[in-house]
Amino acid sequence: MIPSLPPPRAADLLAWYDRHARRLPWRTPPAQRRAGVKPDPYRVWLSEIMLQQTNVTTVKPYFEAFLDRWPTVADLAAASTEDVMKAWAGLGYYSRARNLKACADTVVRDHGGRFPENAAGLRDLPGIGAYTSAAIASIAHDEPAAVVDGNVERVLSRIFAVETPLPAAKKEIGVLQAELTPARRAGDYAQAMMDLGATICSPKRPACSLCPWEASCLAHARGTEELYPRKAAKTERPERAGAAFVAIRADGAILLRKRAERGLLGGMTEVPGSDWIAGPAPAPGSAAAPLAAEWQRVAAPVVHVFTHFRLTLDIWHARLPETEPAPVGAWWASAVELPHEALPSVMKKAIEAAAPGATRKRK
Ligand code: ADE
Repeated sequence: MIPSLPPPRAADLLAWYDRHARRLPWRTPPAQRRAGVKPDPYRVWLSEIMLQQTNVTTVKPYFEAFLDRWPTVADLAAASTEDVMKAWAGLGYYSRARNLKACADTVVRDHGGRFPENAAGLRDLPGIGAYTSAAIASIAHDEPAAVVDGNVERVLSRIFAVETPLPAAKKEIGVLQAELTPARRAGDYAQAMMDLGATICSPKRPACSLCPWEASCLAHARGTEELYPRKAAKTERPERAGAAFVAIRADGAILLRKRAERGLLGGMTEVPGSDWIAGPAPAPGSAAAPLAAEWQRVAAPVVHVFTHFRLTLDIWHARLPETEPAPVGAWWASAVELPHEALPSVMKKAIEAAAPGATRKRK
């Protein structure tokens, strides 16, 4: 029998955060917030959109590059969608970039360049859902909204030994978070939860002896931390196969085209290729190529894991004379232009497999 544990207190987490908050480029440190410095809602919004489905390490350089180039929401609204997509290339989930631009436009057009200050108002903007509106309202304005991301789910499912598996447990965890969120310092509290989940309450081998809520954690008391959060059984990721064609002109230019606006990687740039066929079908051969040439297959295919399937892409390459015209709808991107094209990661991998170094930015 485990004697009843003391309830977790926001004050203990906040005291831990005051000492151990991660320094992040979008973050206003707790000491500054307590001294009255208000976070810039634009930075908070931009970071939260980038951090959806993407980790802190990947986001940092993108966040800094965006802020250098577009320091305010008005600057971003004045940019072209194409430039925003190019700067986003490599971060994935490209509808986020399209919504980012649409949101900046809306804030400038309908809100005089100021983000709404509460979660309800934020939620009406493009690309902002329940989680993101709560996170921005909390971090930028200290609204005591219940912020629940993957870190929070892990921490609270352990503290309270929540037996309901995810994703069904989201509602229950949301209620627990709403009860725990303090009226004051709500933004620091939300970020403290994220930091606790990222640095102490990790999925494997959590560092419980360093946790400010160790004494309140039911899973820890039972020695069952790693069993939470409970998860519904995963279905296997389906397989798809395709072919991609890297046409390399004598001057180093590479043939590109634009993907359809709608659907996966919508509006991004790609090398020409076949459809991506479901199932164990063999990848299409060189008959699917965009132009006639002596196509050669790269020995190892490129494998890329998307959320909903795993893609095996056969890579073909060919050398073309400098006079070769681009087929309708395609263009030759010079060696200088290529690193600045809106190429998603899978396409960078495809090009690198045929032309190593071609997509790297030159200093
Ligand atoms: N993940 C999502 N939002 C975050 C934030 N503001 N800080 C750190 N990690 C995050």
